[in-house]
Amino acid sequence: LVQGAMAKLVPLAPDSWIPGGVPDPLIARKHGLIGTSVSRLDGALKVKGAARFAAEFALDDMVYAALAFATIPRGRIATLDVAAAEAASGVVVVMTHRNAPRMKQPAVFGSSPTAAGPADLPIMQDDRIHWNGQPIAVVLAGTQEQADHAVSLIVTTYDVEESVTSFAAAKEKGAAPASFMGQPLLNEIGDADAMLAAAPHKVDQVYRTPRHNHNAIEPHAATIAWVGGDLVVHDASQLVSMEAATIAGVFDLKVEQVRVTSPYVGGGFGGKCLWDHQILGAAAAKLAGRPVRIVLTREGVYRGVGGRTLTEQRVAIGAAAGGHFQALIHAGTTATTPHNNMPEPFILGTRAGYAADSFKLSVDVVRMNMLANTFMRAPGESVGTFALESAIDELAADLGIDPIELRIRNEPEVDPTSGLPFSSRHIVEAWRAGAAKFGWDKRGLPGARREGEWLIGMGCATGTYPYYRMPGAAARITLDRAGTALVEVAAHEMGMGTSTTTTMVAAERLGLPLEAVEVRYGDSIIPGAILAGGSQQTAAIGAAVIAAHNALVAELLKLAGNDSPLAGLSPDEVGSEDGGLAKLDDPARRESYASILHRAQRDHVSVSAEGSPPLELMHWSMHSHSAIFCEARVNAVTREVRVSRFLGSFDCGRILNPKTARSQFRGGMIMGLGLALMEETEFDERNGRIMNPSLAEYHVPVHLDVPEIDVIWTDIADPHTPMGAHGVGEIGITGVAAAVANAVYNATGTRVRDLPITLDKLL
Ligand code: MOS
Repeated sequence: LVQGAMAKLVPLAPDSWIPGGVPDPLIARKHGLIGTSVSRLDGALKVKGAARFAAEFALDDMVYAALAFATIPRGRIATLDVAAAEAASGVVVVMTHRNAPRMKQPAVFGSSPTAAGPADLPIMQDDRIHWNGQPIAVVLAGTQEQADHAVSLIVTTYDVEESVTSFAAAKEKGAAPASFMGQPLLNEIGDADAMLAAAPHKVDQVYRTPRHNHNAIEPHAATIAWVGGDLVVHDASQLVSMEAATIAGVFDLKVEQVRVTSPYVGGGFGGKCLWDHQILGAAAAKLAGRPVRIVLTREGVYRGVGGRTLTEQRVAIGAAAGGHFQALIHAGTTATTPHNNMPEPFILGTRAGYAADSFKLSVDVVRMNMLANTFMRAPGESVGTFALESAIDELAADLGIDPIELRIRNEPEVDPTSGLPFSSRHIVEAWRAGAAKFGWDKRGLPGARREGEWLIGMGCATGTYPYYRMPGAAARITLDRAGTALVEVAAHEMGMGTSTTTTMVAAERLGLPLEAVEVRYGDSIIPGAILAGGSQQTAAIGAAVIAAHNALVAELLKLAGNDSPLAGLSPDEVGSEDGGLAKLDDPARRESYASILHRAQRDHVSVSAEGSPPLELMHWSMHSHSAIFCEARVNAVTREVRVSRFLGSFDCGRILNPKTARSQFRGGMIMGLGLALMEETEFDERNGRIMNPSLAEYHVPVHLDVPEIDVIWTDIADPHTPMGAHGVGEIGITGVAAAVANAVYNATGTRVRDLPITLDKLL
């Protein structure tokens, strides 16, 4: 569709989306690349097997790693017998706390902008056990099979110490107010308790969500080599620059001595970050003097890569007869470990969801002896919207008001807890369009619709996820005389289309055809730091590319000199089009990039620049929104639940690439289906052991579980973001669990308030 499409005039607009500035000119484009469906540029490589993932780097003299895991939640290693493992065929070395190189503790995520460590624990430096599943030995051998066999020969005994492995015991020890990324998770406006007590209508319920584990298709893997005194880690990573900085700290190296690459990632969702295995692999490589490939088994991912922690959430809403919210209380408890700080922040979406006369929103946290939990797709909003949007459905039923109408009646004019204006909020349009397309008017009373053995119901929910843009992103643009551009960003391709969308954004801004732009990413030696997380990577890249393009135009004008048709023009009078620069209000005054470089006797010009600080976040309340619709069928005999139809109606600013965005929305909704009906980490509360560390026993949706998923969007650009876009990575999962629960209620009249909605809860 877009092959050969030429981008049109792109005026320079330095810092254009900053408060007081003019909107990013790419928002207004109607005939360029932005907004066209482009297939993933890396798609063919992946289909052909030509895309090299972290576990596919083959290095000379490489050995394979396998891990042994502790089987107690807390205590000390009493004896650790590795003699049989050392004697096993092909074994090169067995590393334990006794012979591991001395290392510092990793800086824990959130403690500084470059910290990426999972927890502030030493890694294999002593005999202490901090969770059931902690790595206690690394075997290196000539083949993976030899390493796996040798690990099975290790014999360990422990001195067990007292631990807290049940949520009830942890709560008895006391909960403390939680903070998330340094901010307290607490909002109190007015006297919500009193207003709830006095309200004529109310819902007041407790909702529970379980632990979840990360199950990316590609298990965590790294291929690691020491080159001289420097370290190269080929990894599957969502944060190459931060990972390199943190690993450098662990091994007492300068940051430039560590290079982390991540050309492809087979799914991330928050889990493809720095965990012990990369550090253990690097330590073992140092000990053996040979490169190491470390690939976690599926069980290894459960033992060593944290997931989403559990929540217990009270939602209480007091309302007037017409549905107006007088009190909105969303408060509860989550669990984390003594060594990390990642409470599941389930109130985040409630802060800007609805208007109310009073609010009380809070998260408390208890500590448990378990693996550090972490980010998992839309941390907070995924499970927080389940509670809030279920409660709204319960209130709607009580009031006899249509649940969509109830939501619209409580639509806020400004952010109700921060007081900031919304930058772009068109959730009502999303609701109206979604309801019409889904056929919401055919929804009946609970239990009213039956076809044979199947009870059929409809449910809906609002989804929400904030717009973020983290500082520190940079881009380097190198333009050559052949008229092609290399754009480098320290970003990540986890399968969502980032490399494709970045190519589109850069080509459009440079006024080049798509095929004239090459994007390189996934390498910590590229300047700047970009996190593939918080649904903000594309905005961060966009801002960096804007800054680099501005720097490039200024540099080209200098090179153009006095003999150019552009002579005497300043950068803000000039834009890019058709492979060159042109005066904005007089495009006949133009010169091609090739001509400028030729006259200047330059083969290429290269600039790098950092994106502007994300000041927009200080001036507006910024979010992606969705209206999720679900049709569920519940078997009247077995009570099995099948979702038969989904529709997601999204309001996420300008959609840059409809094809990859649609896949992102659908993927998120499928993950939401798993959240609603299947996913649950079975945690043995006696000893902190995860009991279902495999895809055979931890259920995620498969093709037969996934219905037709219709996706529509408003495509209304936000004037205050790069390209007018909001994130599309995490919004898809939010609201889905509530939409399913509400549909199950409409089908059966039974309300399930703890996830997942398995058939036993409907008997
Ligand atoms: Mo997402 S949980 O920020 O990868």
